[in-house]
Amino acid sequence: MAQLIATSGDITRLTVDAIVNAANTSLLGGGGVDGAIHRAAGPELLGACEKLDGCSTGDAKATSGFRIPARWIFHAVGPVWRGGGHNEDELLASCYRRCLELAREHNARSIAFPAISTGVYGFPMKRAAEIALKTVRENVEASGVERVEFVCFNEETLSIYEQLLARD
Ligand code: APR
Repeated sequence: MAQLIATSGDITRLTVDAIVNAANTSLLGGGGVDGAIHRAAGPELLGACEKLDGCSTGDAKATSGFRIPARWIFHAVGPVWRGGGHNEDELLASCYRRCLELAREHNARSIAFPAISTGVYGFPMKRAAEIALKTVRENVEASGVERVEFVCFNEETLSIYEQLLARD
């Protein structure tokens, strides 16, 4: 049974097999966690991303971790929140599913997720956390991943994840 935990801190410093980036469709970097990961991984990451030819919303693509401790970075593109009537829930769930598929393909046994789409993209935090946990629970056993860390960047996010993890 995989271990699911909520933690806080800087995702770029985690010694896990894979960290997930909350990227955009260009995969050419940005602010938020995307910016932090590119800064920490170094310029070679941008070079690797340029070869990936972008990424669709709801999908994810893998690169090496370069200068960060994680072996892999899975760049997931979450939906922009537009009120909930534009398939946002399914597109967000797809990001988590695709990252677990990449984990299986790359033999990653530990993975750390940021709260995809809940920053710049405006997805309501609790709704996003519920989707994240439900999707991971449904797909983690098939992925071979043994440890999933939900890295929270602020107290609000951490308390939401801790409540949801304790509830089920
Ligand atoms: N480390 C860990 N988590 C972070 C960091 C960081 N340095 N910075 C932000 N976060 C958290 C936010 O608090 C939020 O909970 O990551 C979560 C995702 O927020 P964003 O990084 O803003 O990502 P998202 O909402 O998915 O928007 C993606 O923002 O940075 C651009 O290029 C990115 O266009 C894309 C968009």
